Formats: sequence, C-alpha cells, structure tokens
Amino acid sequence: MSNPGARPIGIFDSGVGGLTVARKIHDRLPDEPFIYLGDTARVPYGNKSPATVQRYSENIARLLCDNGAKAIVVACNTASAYAREYLRDTLDVPVLSVIEPAAEDAVRTTRQGSIGVIGTLGTVKSGAYERAVAEYDPSIRVVSRACPLFVPLAEEGWTEGDIARQIARRYLDGFAETDIDVLILGCTHYPLLAPVITEVIEEVTGRKIAVLDSAEATSRRLAAVLSEQSLVCPTTAVAPSRRFWVTDISDSYVELCSRFFQAPVKDIVHVDL
Ligand code: DGL
Repeated sequence: MSNPGARPIGIFDSGVGGLTVARKIHDRLPDEPFIYLGDTARVPYGNKSPATVQRYSENIARLLCDNGAKAIVVACNTASAYAREYLRDTLDVPVLSVIEPAAEDAVRTTRQGSIGVIGTLGTVKSGAYERAVAEYDPSIRVVSRACPLFVPLAEEGWTEGDIARQIARRYLDGFAETDIDVLILGCTHYPLLAPVITEVIEEVTGRKIAVLDSAEATSRRLAAVLSEQSLVCPTTAVAPSRRFWVTDISDSYVELCSRFFQAPVKDIVHVDL
C-alpha cells in the first residue's frame, strides 16, 4: 500500500470487551479501516501473570503489524498495564493504551481530587492507574478495587437485574468511606454494566459520581495521534474494511460481538496465533 494512512488500525483485547473501544473508534473515525482481534482462546487476562499477558500481547501486536497495522490500540486495561510500554519500545508503529486517556479525563473531571478505579485483578495490582493519574496530578487520591465477576457477567449478558446489582453492591460497598466523585471503568468489559454500576455507586456513596470509560478518551487520542503522524486514512468512495478476528470461535459470538459493538458483527474470522 503506497499511502501509509490507508493501512488499518490494529485493535486488540483479551476477548470481546475491546469492541466497546472499537465502537467509539468507528464513531469518531468512520473512514478508518481496522482489524479487531479478540484473544477469545486465552481470555481472561485479568488473573494471569504480567509475563504471560506481555507475551500474549506481543503475539497479537506482531500479527496485526504483519497484516499492515499502522497503529496499535491496546483495548484491554490488563494488557495496557503490563505490555503497553514493552510494545511501544519494540514496535515501530504508535501504540496506544486505554489507561492514560481515561486517567487524563478523570483528572480533568474530579472536583474532590479523589478518583475511584475498578478493573481486573491484574490491572488493580499493577498500580497503572495510580501512576497514570500521578503523571497528570500527583495530589489526586486514587482508590482502586478489583471486580473480576463483572467480566463473565458482561459476557453472559447479565448486565441488569438483581444478580448484577448484588454483585455490584458487594464490590462497590468499600467506596462508601471514600470521597471519590469520579469512577473509572478500568476494564473494557464494564461499559456494558455502566447503568448498574452508576446506580449502585451513587447509592453507596450518597452522591453524584461521574462514571467514565476509556473508549471515548482513547478514540480522541487515537484521532490526534493519526493526525500528528500523518496516518489519517484518505477518504475514498469505498467503505473502509472492518475485520473481526478471534482466536477461538463459537456459535454465540455473532450475538455477543454485536452486543459489545452495538451493531451487527458478521464474518468473524478464526485466526491462529
Ligand atoms: N477487557 C479486559 C480488560 O480491559 C478484561 C478481561 C480479562 O480479564 O481478560 O482488562
């Protein structure tokens, strides 16, 4: 391809959660082609060791680059926490994480100087959000909690009702003693549970909480990076190609992926790493 801008954006997650980010990228940059890869054979990443998450992330990023990716979006908080710096140092295309953009938005939003973060065990253990927030404003307090059951709840589509509410209550109760006024959904699966999470966190804290996800902020940062690096796709009459790849495929994926992408996802392709 002669024009580097015509190459696709590579987006990946441990599974289907990153489609919430792909959706926002599609909305903000409708002319951009992309390849989305969900590592459904090896999901979840949230309870795996940093070395394993880094190895899986490198496999995927290299596959996407071999297929022409002009930029990589690590649409998984766990992979962003453990592999983003490594990928940035080893690949010769821009690598974006979902953590810094969300942290920047949260710092801009908080009035109390206190931010809550929920994510996988890996993301919380890594301290990546604490570091990212401190980069913008070291005086801001960050309280983070792991909510591992939110991932299977989102995958099962149990995103509302009593079970989702009870689990959210159990995880979010600890925020009662904090003074947070912003809560970052630090896992790309969680936006599907945003209504329940918002309801419960406001009930628990007794105040209005701004619930932020990283998709919007990441798509904004991606648009800026593509423009700065002259990688914007030239407009053509042909609709941009959007490819959806998974490392393990099952009958339920068309429905599941469509739910996360909020639009019909057809032609899901099985790839081996
Ligand atoms: N979507 C992943 C993230 O944002 C979480 C799912 C997993 O544990 O693999 O961290």
